[in-house]
This record gives sequence, C-alpha cells and structure tokens, in this order.
Amino acid sequence: MQITIVDHPLVQHKLALLREADVSTNKFRLLTEELARLLAYEATRDLALEPTSIQGWCGEVTVRKIKGKKLTVVPILRAGLGMLGGVLDLVPSAKISVVGLARNEETLQPEPYFEKFVGSLDDRLALIIDPMLATGGSMVATIDMLKRKGCQHIKAIVMVAAPEGVRLVNACHPDVPLYCAALDSHLDEHGYIIPGLGDAGDKIFGTK
Ligand code: PRP
Ligand code: URA
Repeated sequence: MQITIVDHPLVQHKLALLREADVSTNKFRLLTEELARLLAYEATRDLALEPTSIQGWCGEVTVRKIKGKKLTVVPILRAGLGMLGGVLDLVPSAKISVVGLARNEETLQPEPYFEKFVGSLDDRLALIIDPMLATGGSMVATIDMLKRKGCQHIKAIVMVAAPEGVRLVNACHPDVPLYCAALDSHLDEHGYIIPGLGDAGDKIFGTK
C-alpha cells in the first residue's frame, strides 16, 4: 500500500483530539484546519524550485522560488471545505477547483453534483483535500475528473484513510501519492472508517 502517514507529534496529538466522541463542532473545525495545514506542509515538501534574481537590500541576490504555475487545491464537497483554510494558510496564492460528490449511503457510490475547475490544469499540481478516504470511490472519481481535464500531476491529502480506500486509489491511480495522519483498521458494514472520526462532514458543518 502506497501512502505517506505523517507521524509528526503535532499531527498525532491533533488527530487524537479529533477522535474524541464529544468533540464540539467548533473544536472539530479548528483541528481540521490545523491538521490540514500540517499535512499540506508535508505534501508540498518536494515542490520544484527555480533560481531567480531579485533586488535585495544590498543589491542583486539569487533566491529560489516555486517553479511553474500556481497549484490548484481541490476540496471535495462538503467536508473537504473544512481543510481549505488550513491549506491556503500555507499556499495563499493557490487557485481553487471544486468537486461536489455525495456518497450514496446505500450503494456507497459517489454521486457527482458539481464541478468547477480552474484553467490550465495540464500545467498545475492539483492537491485534492478530503478528510476521509473510506471506500476510495469519491477520491477515484475526483482523480478521474481531473485527469479528463488534462491534469497530470495530482496529490491527495486526507486526515484518515481506510486500507480499502488506499488499495482502490493505488490500483486505479498508482501515480497519485496519498498523504494522511492515520491509516485506520477497516470499514464497517455502512462504509464508515473504524475507528475513524464518524461523519466528518456532519461534524464540520454541525448537521445531524
Ligand atoms: C464523505 C467524505 C468523502 C467520502 C469518503 O463525504 O468526506 O468525500 O465520504 O467516502 P468514500 O471513500 O467511500 O467515497 P460524504 O459523501 O459523506 O459527503 P459530505 O462531505 O457532504 O458529508
Ligand atoms: N465519510 C465519513 O465522513 N466518515 C467515514 O468514516 C466514511 C465516509
């Protein structure tokens, strides 16, 4: 299974707080943003740099800046929106592409209801964000959409992943690296990650 588990103490501590059954909406939202920031730091570690000359305080100096077009962050609605602020704290000039998918609670298949991508996807890194990778259906559908639009460089950040979802994404899209805070045990009979976080979208939005 190909996935990077970010085992930084701050990541693991924040994840532990997120797993508490009585966590409030406010706290869940805050922790989700904080965790997204730390995971995005790891996922952007290998961005390519290029040397460039600038006028510094003492004259010309060669510095290094991120190469190429601005990356696009791709939150999967709804729950992915909860991670967006944290990622944008690190990459404030990122472009935002949005994918709306709802998982059918009976079939567990993702049902698309919205998509709006930025232009020039063939020249950008796309950073997909979604708190939960369960069966992997939503992630695979999002990667399929991005690739259909010409995107060739894709990474995905989730907070918690299930082995079932990692296997599916690895099998369908072996070129897409995955980053998470935890690889959990398994899915239950309703497709929920065990031990997981419960319904991340409901916890972020305060629904149910
Ligand atoms: C959740 C989650 C993922 C998806 C994961 O969203 O945020 O998008 O389920 O499940 P999968 O890996 O089995 O596809 P959900 O469809 O519940 O919608 P929401 O974000 O609106 O709560
Ligand atoms: N979606 C969630 O929000 N949680 C899960 O455990 C699985 C899918």
